Amino acid sequence: MSGPLKTCVLVSGTGSNLQALINACRAGKLNIEINHVISNVANAGGLARAESAGIATSVLQHGLFSSRDDFDRALALLMAAGKPDLVVLAGFMRIIGPRVLQPFQGKMINLHPSLLPRYRGTETYRRAIEAGDREHGASIHFVTEELDGGPVISQVVIPILDDDDPQTLAARLGPMEHRLLVATAGFLAEHQVKCSDGAVIIDGKTLEAPLKLQENDQLGFNQPRD
Ligand code: GRF
Repeated sequence: MSGPLKTCVLVSGTGSNLQALINACRAGKLNIEINHVISNVANAGGLARAESAGIATSVLQHGLFSSRDDFDRALALLMAAGKPDLVVLAGFMRIIGPRVLQPFQGKMINLHPSLLPRYRGTETYRRAIEAGDREHGASIHFVTEELDGGPVISQVVIPILDDDDPQTLAARLGPMEHRLLVATAGFLAEHQVKCSDGAVIIDGKTLEAPLKLQENDQLGFNQPRD
């Protein structure tokens, strides 16, 4: 990829992950250009963060649409306006339908707070603690029609401590999610990463296990590659 990856970010909440991307771009650490931030929530903190950074923003309130399909049609049009190479769902709390998926298949990634395939959906911290897991983490995966079910590109793992509750676990995972998202966006800008037949293909080779975030914020492979 020669020029920066034109990137559209979708947010519903505070946008701390968006901020991590903005900061990394400003620091010259990422070969991406965030040119559009879209939210389905009018007062989402992520919108203010984008505006402060001089990034174009749009609001599409799902409650104002008569059907999910109408919302998706409008969302797909808005997303297409910036001609993105990459779409990042960073805390976007809406299920993406086929009208959005189809045109952006293989270009859309989602950040999810669990070690997928474990704990799709919500309340991942509580579920991991209640199951007695010793580790939790976050995953970045291609978005497909299956909720939190697309092929996983990268993960970060953290321990679950004996006295963790969902809040403390979430608080410790947050900064690691930021690092994972920045590292993954950087990786996507530097490599040919495709989603094909339910697998992640990196520079022509099938990824056998998710890339793991290392202590130096690089993404390492889990298995030897030739
Ligand atoms: C993150 O925890 C992410 O894993 C989840 O939503 C949260 C978004 O946080 N999908 P923020 O809006 O980026 O602060």
